[in-house]
Amino acid sequence: MIHFVTSNKGKYAEAQAIFGDLVQRDIGYAEIQADTLEEVALYGMEEVIGRLEGPVMLEDAGLFVQALQGFPGVYSAYVQKTIGNAGILRLMEGQENRSAYFKSVVAYAEPGIKTVMFSGEVHGRIGFEARGNRGFGYDPIFYVDDVSLAEMDLEKKNQISHRAKSMRALKNWRIGR
Ligand code: IMP
Repeated sequence: MIHFVTSNKGKYAEAQAIFGDLVQRDIGYAEIQADTLEEVALYGMEEVIGRLEGPVMLEDAGLFVQALQGFPGVYSAYVQKTIGNAGILRLMEGQENRSAYFKSVVAYAEPGIKTVMFSGEVHGRIGFEARGNRGFGYDPIFYVDDVSLAEMDLEKKNQISHRAKSMRALKNWRIGR
């Protein structure tokens, strides 16, 4: 059983489908302002590790848009809360280069070991409109092969997503030890 520290039900559902033995812990931690997802995840882990017993994981993700030089990146949560998907679509108006990727970094710790981290990416495009009502966050505007992540069911998203990749890497690492 692993404690997954997140307030995001969508993330939890995706992770649960991969691990099967997670418990969601909505205990909150400070997301520091840093240049990389790895730093944010590592600091978050330092904050929560002493508050839970046994294996703990947390995850930090971001959307990196090529034409916007990687924005919103590590600021993805704030940007989603403020300008949202409509704001990103507006920033992309007239932009032909729609390339973007999501990156996920999962941090994992358990008593007696140093925190380990795994990452995963999914590359796609920012669409011209929001489509679909599944998933969360930027899913409706992020397309892979002309289908938005919000149009995919959880199983399909978990075949290709950044989070599925980082979490499968962690799962395999745990099995292989
Ligand atoms: P965080 O990892 O919770 O800090 O996520 C940063 C921002 O990116 C939040 O606004 C999330 O909603 C969004 N986000 C993270 N993962 C995904 C995803 O898989 N699809 C769409 N948006 C995501």
